[in-house]
Amino acid sequence: MKVLVTGGAGFIGSHVVDKLIQEKCQVVIIDNLSTGLRENINPAATFIQLDIRNDEIFSLFMTEKFDFVIHLAAQTMVHKSLEMPDYDCDINILGTVNILEACRKANVKRIIFSSTAAVYGNVTALPVVETSPKAPTSFYGLSKLTCENYLSLYKEVYGLDYMILRYANVYGDRQGDGGEGGVISIFARKIRQDQPVLIFGDGSQTRDFIYVGDVANANYQSLLVDHANKICNISTQTETSVNMLIDYMGNVAGKMVVRNYNEKREGDIYKSSLSNATARKNLDWQPHMMLLEGLAKTYHSLI
Ligand SMILES: NC(=O)c1ccc[n+]([C@@H]2O[C@H](COP(=O)([O-])OP(=O)(O)OC[C@H]3O[C@@H](n4cnc5c(N)ncnc54)[C@H](O)[C@@H]3O)[C@@H](O)[C@H]2O)c1
Repeated sequence: MKVLVTGGAGFIGSHVVDKLIQEKCQVVIIDNLSTGLRENINPAATFIQLDIRNDEIFSLFMTEKFDFVIHLAAQTMVHKSLEMPDYDCDINILGTVNILEACRKANVKRIIFSSTAAVYGNVTALPVVETSPKAPTSFYGLSKLTCENYLSLYKEVYGLDYMILRYANVYGDRQGDGGEGGVISIFARKIRQDQPVLIFGDGSQTRDFIYVGDVANANYQSLLVDHANKICNISTQTETSVNMLIDYMGNVAGKMVVRNYNEKREGDIYKSSLSNATARKNLDWQPHMMLLEGLAKTYHSLI
């Protein structure tokens, strides 16, 4: 099968591409390299440097006739979305609508959309299920939720099948410092350089950390299953506090980690854990990587 991966030079996208290549798919990547890196790109994939907002994608879709599209390209920074909501909207909403238009005109079978736990906002009842209230606290969360609604209406109006994957905090090698969920890569680099780690708030805030290889598997499974048009959390369903995370990372590195505490950041969610029952049922998927092992892999991948 022929698959287009938008954002395939990025952190998660490059792991998705590796999984697809391993499964013998024909893969084309479009990425504008705004945060992605050429060195992340699997040489077995065809790479086209292109912005998802560019009209050239229409001729590309017509010529290449993709079976599936895995859409990961996005502006992923929560804080940038709060500083520049128009910038976030341009890439995340208008860029996605451009991809959706190309999908429907070129009769793509299914689009897999990378959404986020940020669509929920501060939910008090954990673990969060897909039907929990949606109250994003950032424009990034709002733009992703808006795209989800576009996908649902594209299905209703044009019959374009979709799968929406709402990732918890993804971690693993090749993760940059800036995007959503980058806390592990930021801490790992600091610990490696024997520098103190900076914690926003008192460190009791929790996150659900999911390994990037498990996320790549969920994307691949989304192409295989018969039933589409589902929304699935992709998570471990486990809460880990930031303080606990630093303890684990200190163990992995064999170092005492110095912690500096700063004020909590606007828009940050306090507690997070996502139920993964829907993904287990609908994607025939489950997370495999244990946190300590994943942290060790991530830490030791740093040069
Ligand atoms: N990392 C996480 O924890 C996490 C959590 C939830 C959701 N997500 C979502 O997963 C997807 C991938 O995130 P990531 O962490 O790998 O980020 P990333 O920044 O590493 O990857 C994004 C990729 O998209 C490319 N890109 C950005 N704007 C583009 C544009 N206008 N045209 C073409 N390419 C463009 C970038 O160059 C980059 O390669 C995003 O949609 C993000 O919102 C990530």
